[in-house]
Amino acid sequence: MTVLRLGVNVDHVATVRNARGGVTPDPVRAAMIAIEAGADGITAHLREDRRHIHDDDMRRLKASVTKPLNFEMAATEAMLDIALRIRPHACCLVPEKRTERTTEGGLDVVGGFRALKPFVAELGSAGIRVCMFIEPSGEALKASADLGAPVIELHTGAWCDALARGDSGRADYEFGRLRVAAAQTPGLGLECHAGHGLDYDSARVIAGLPQVVELNIGHFLIGEAIFVGLAETVRAMRAAMDEGRTPAERRR
Ligand code: PXP
Repeated sequence: MTVLRLGVNVDHVATVRNARGGVTPDPVRAAMIAIEAGADGITAHLREDRRHIHDDDMRRLKASVTKPLNFEMAATEAMLDIALRIRPHACCLVPEKRTERTTEGGLDVVGGFRALKPFVAELGSAGIRVCMFIEPSGEALKASADLGAPVIELHTGAWCDALARGDSGRADYEFGRLRVAAAQTPGLGLECHAGHGLDYDSARVIAGLPQVVELNIGHFLIGEAIFVGLAETVRAMRAAMDEGRTPAERRR
């Protein structure tokens, strides 16, 4: 089997930063740490409402990240302009609703076929790899191939939600859809990625699908990093405070 690439989504580092309105934590610093730790690429979603990643983050990510940058975006003229200016390695077209907390479903590539076609063409002719974020269905796969997109990303959210609820019947059903969809991609000439809601356990399972060559993971990684990193950070703060309390002549 080919190596499975990991794309690390840094959106929620920006979510935490924006909660304070300052400059830290910086999603670009997170991207550098992720690459140092073995990420194969960095993903960021510039939402219309800029709730996490900002325009300047995308620009700085492009300037700093040495691995492929995957720009998630809605298919709008404004986003297309930004993508053509930033020229990331890849653009993943996603549906976007202002009221949703996260990308709730796959892109309607069948109903939106005519509207999506020029976006796929323009991004493609700029040398950007276009990916359609879709539900694991035969119609969506076929429409993505007909649109000329070289890549699809299967939305794993319904499967992950069922796993999280402990609904094993539903989880088996959803995983079956993912397995069937992934198996259809080579015949359609599509590269197959997957993502949304993945954690260690679900990533381990989906890694068993040979057609899937990339996983994009964000929320779980950023959340887990709090627990993995908190003890060390508290120790460093303890040390800084203790040092500050030590009279200068005894610090040397
Ligand atoms: N892939 C796509 C297309 C997404 O929109 C998202 C969420 O931004 C992800 C992957 C990552 O999902 P999560 O943050 O749940 O890991």
